[in-house]
Amino acid sequence: MVRKRVLSGVQPTGALHLGNWLGAIRNWVELQKNHETFVCVVDLHALTVPNDPKILSENTISTAALYIACGMNPKECSIFVQSQISAHSELCWLLNCVTPLNWMERMIQFKEKSIKQGDNVSIGLLDYPVLMSADILLYDADLVPVGEDQKQHLELARDIAQNRINSRFGTKKNPILKVPQSLILKEGAKIMSLTEGNSKMSKSDPNENSRITLLDSPDLIAKKIKRAKTDAEVGLEFDNPNRPEANNLLTLYSILSGLGREVVAKECATMGWGEFKPLLAEATIAALTPIQSRYNGLMNERDELNNILKIGRDQAEEVADATLKRLQNAMGLLSRS
Ligand code: AMP
Ligand code: TRP
Repeated sequence: MVRKRVLSGVQPTGALHLGNWLGAIRNWVELQKNHETFVCVVDLHALTVPNDPKILSENTISTAALYIACGMNPKECSIFVQSQISAHSELCWLLNCVTPLNWMERMIQFKEKSIKQGDNVSIGLLDYPVLMSADILLYDADLVPVGEDQKQHLELARDIAQNRINSRFGTKKNPILKVPQSLILKEGAKIMSLTEGNSKMSKSDPNENSRITLLDSPDLIAKKIKRAKTDAEVGLEFDNPNRPEANNLLTLYSILSGLGREVVAKECATMGWGEFKPLLAEATIAALTPIQSRYNGLMNERDELNNILKIGRDQAEEVADATLKRLQNAMGLLSRS
């Protein structure tokens, strides 16, 4: 039986945090067991916000190492760096030429990020979702495991594939691009900030106490959790819209401890924050310690890491080039041979 194909990626724009892991990477690790899985470090996307070149290349390697430390197995999946496969940029151009500008101006993440960047908004930032569509469509991906904030971008990729490429350049019997589906976890798809329960945990929040990164030391994790915003009530509960922090911290505890929602809801129903926070800190440290030790080991084996990325690149490039060629032919570009 042909296995379904999975593609996903994370930007190397800073240390990965609990939201990236619990909302996305955790899902990849499960999917690789019975899907053909491609995961990339999307360094071209990172260029859409201001960047220090030295830090970007280091973050790219370190993000790949974290994928593996979190459980991605290079023997079972392909791990690669987006910019090393030129088909991503080339497909992006082809898709740019059929995507209406007003679809892009509607994108929530563009609106939010462009407000932050003021006068300095690049065309790349506007075009970010088309590049993301190219990433996905190049691999004929069936499933794209992401956090909730990427839902709109996935809709765009589907729209482009269906309504701008297949219906114009393909036939019903012979569609050119596969129309992908997003895969969003029920629990953990939107981890919120530790300092504001109504905003998502994000790499770009200027307040470092708002997020726990996968490489934070045990002391720092305990400190951040101790400082996390709470409320004045005793007895902790999920799903009370007036208590977003309680919902978020209980969700974290439920996933990180492995106890699950029901057990946690019962255990914490009469608990106060003073009792709960050390439990959450302990569960977080226990979950991150093995990831950190695997990460440190990998970062000391640069040759091996580079070799993994080279093998992943070769595997990915073969698939990507074939898709690109298919679309180039369909759009009337003269073939090379
Ligand atoms: P980014 O950090 O924007 O490159 O996001 C990489 C992946 O992590 C994407 O699939 C996001 O949807 C997911 N993600 C980012 N922030 C969160 C969050 N706070 N909660 C859950 N998933 C998230
Ligand atoms: N835009 C995604 C994010 O910020 C990252 C991304 C780029 C991605 N290309 C992708 C995710 C392709 C899934 C598939 O989270």
